[in-house]
Amino acid sequence: MSDFPRKIIIDTDPGQDDAMAILLALGSPEEIDLLGIVAVAGNVPIARTAENARKVCEVAKRPDVKVYAGCDRPLAHTLVTAEHVHGKTGLDGIELPAPEMPIQDQHGVDFIIETLRAEPAGTVTLCPLGPLTNIATAFQKAPDIIARVQEIVLMGGAYFEVGNVTPAAEFNIYVDPEAAEIVFKSGVKLTVMPLDCTHKVLVTAPRLQAFKDFGNHLGDVVAGWLDFFERFDVEKYGSLGGPLHDPTVIAYLIKPELFSGRFINVEIETGSELTRGMTVADWWGVTDREQNAMFMGDADAEGFFTLLTERVRRLA
Ligand code: RIB
Ligand code: CA
Repeated sequence: MSDFPRKIIIDTDPGQDDAMAILLALGSPEEIDLLGIVAVAGNVPIARTAENARKVCEVAKRPDVKVYAGCDRPLAHTLVTAEHVHGKTGLDGIELPAPEMPIQDQHGVDFIIETLRAEPAGTVTLCPLGPLTNIATAFQKAPDIIARVQEIVLMGGAYFEVGNVTPAAEFNIYVDPEAAEIVFKSGVKLTVMPLDCTHKVLVTAPRLQAFKDFGNHLGDVVAGWLDFFERFDVEKYGSLGGPLHDPTVIAYLIKPELFSGRFINVEIETGSELTRGMTVADWWGVTDREQNAMFMGDADAEGFFTLLTERVRRLA
C-alpha cells in the first residue's frame, strides 16, 4: 500500500519561506493531504502569522483550507520576532489584499489534539515550520496524543552551521527552547531539517528567474517574496541567495531521497542564556545519549528546486 497521500498538519509562522512550504504542499495533492494549518507566533506576532497563512492559501486559490490561530507567545520567554528578515508584515516583498477566508474559531492547539484523536493512530504527521510552542502545548495538554503521532518533520536547529539568531542557536528553537525540549524528548519519530541542510538550498538568480518566468500573478508574488527574503542572508553570509528553509520539510515528505543525514542524539540547551536554544547534536557519536532524531546534513539543491518550481507552477 502506498505511503501517499501523507496526512499532515502544518504549524507555521509565515514568513516567506513558510509560504513556499504551504504552496509546495498545496501543489502536491498526490503526496500530501493537508488537514489544516496552525499559525504560531514567531517571525511576526500571531495576528500576522494567522493572517499571512490565509493570504498564502488565497494566493494558491485555496480559501477552503482550514487555518487556525495557535499560541501567541513561547512557553517561558517573551516573544522574539524576525521582522529584520521577513519585513513588518512577515510577508514583505509584494502587497497582498487582506484575506477574505475566515480564521477557524477553534484554537489551533485544540485542533491538533482533536485531529490526532480522531484520525487513526500513526497516520498524521506534524510539520512545524516555526517555534514549537503549539506542538509542545498540545503534548502537555493531552499527553495521550503523543503516541498517536506518525512523525514530526520540522525545520529547526543547526550543528555545523551553528546559529542564525545568536552565535549558538537557530531562530525556531531559540524562540521557544522549552517547547523544543518537550518535542525532542517526546519519543515521537523525529526528522530535523537544520540549517546544515537548509543552507544548501539557496535561491540563486536562475532559481528566482524560474518563478519570474511563470509570467503570471503567482510567479510575481513568489518572486517578490523571495527577492525580499534573501537580502538578509546574502548580506550576512555573502551567499549566492537566501536559504529556503521551510519547504525542505514538505520536500522531504514527497522525495526523501533529496536529503541525507544521520540518526543521532539531539538535545536542547534551556539553562544557559549564552547558548539558549542550541541544538546539541551528537553528530560524531561521542556520547552514549539515546539517539532521538534523524538530523539532515545535506540536500540535492537542484532536485529540490526542480520539485518546488514544478509543484508551485501547478497552482497558477
Ligand atoms: O531559522 C529559520 C527559520 O526561522 C525558518 O522557519 C524561518 O521561517 C524562521 O521561522
Ligand atoms: Ca518558519
